[in-house]
Amino acid sequence: MANARSPLERHAVSFADPRAVRELFERGYTVFERAYSTEEVDYFRDRLTRVYDEIGRPKLSANPPYQPTPDVEIGPAGIVFHKLTTHYPDMAARLYKRHIIDTIRGLLGDDMRLELPAGALSDSTRPFFDWHVHIGGVDDAYFDNKRVYTTFERSERVTVLLYLDDLTEENGRLLVYPRKLTDPTAPPYDVKREAWPGQIEIACPRGSMVVIEQCTWHAARQKRSPGVRGFIGSYFAAGFAETSPLADESLQGWSGDDELFRSILPRR
Ligand SMILES: [Fe+2]
Repeated sequence: MANARSPLERHAVSFADPRAVRELFERGYTVFERAYSTEEVDYFRDRLTRVYDEIGRPKLSANPPYQPTPDVEIGPAGIVFHKLTTHYPDMAARLYKRHIIDTIRGLLGDDMRLELPAGALSDSTRPFFDWHVHIGGVDDAYFDNKRVYTTFERSERVTVLLYLDDLTEENGRLLVYPRKLTDPTAPPYDVKREAWPGQIEIACPRGSMVVIEQCTWHAARQKRSPGVRGFIGSYFAAGFAETSPLADESLQGWSGDDELFRSILPRR
């Protein structure tokens, strides 16, 4: 019986990683290395690359963006697969890990909710991905790069990245600029500059999950090797936060029975 336990009982035991919770507050990101097995990563990557094959492996950059098939979009940053759990219902039970979800709850509160899960593939045609933040659940292009940078006392949201390929020099590493939760949020340097003083380069193996607080500036280097690289990205928002305009409304209709996934769905 899915509703037999109250939310209080469900969260009575937390599997949060205290070090990771502390890192989210104090430096704005944390990394769970090899949180997913090779088999799990292959499962996600195969599904995304199969769709890419089915639509004829088109060029992985387009401006303006277009949709070769419903909920699949090719734009400047590669191909994005929206509404993952609607198109691939068997993904829901595999997408998240209890200790990572509980860690995010440690930052955002027990009533935090999943806003969207989406997959992405890109290749060497995508240039350096400029420094950006996800404040409000949108990237800076949404505001035509004229965002107002307020400060925060509480965390509203995190971006979560599950890497389906190794983050190496050749594949293009993730760059993160550490910050405390209450630090100023305006960019400290030019967002197009490819190296910021104080940046951290993240090089982790496939199957790692990186959690980034919404105000943490980050960028991604260009891939230098042939082939595609992939990740699955998600937004999680605190219960008090205004919902991202990009939120996946199809999550409201999810009717599977995975308890962890059910516990993070938006309230109806
Ligand atoms: Fe990002």
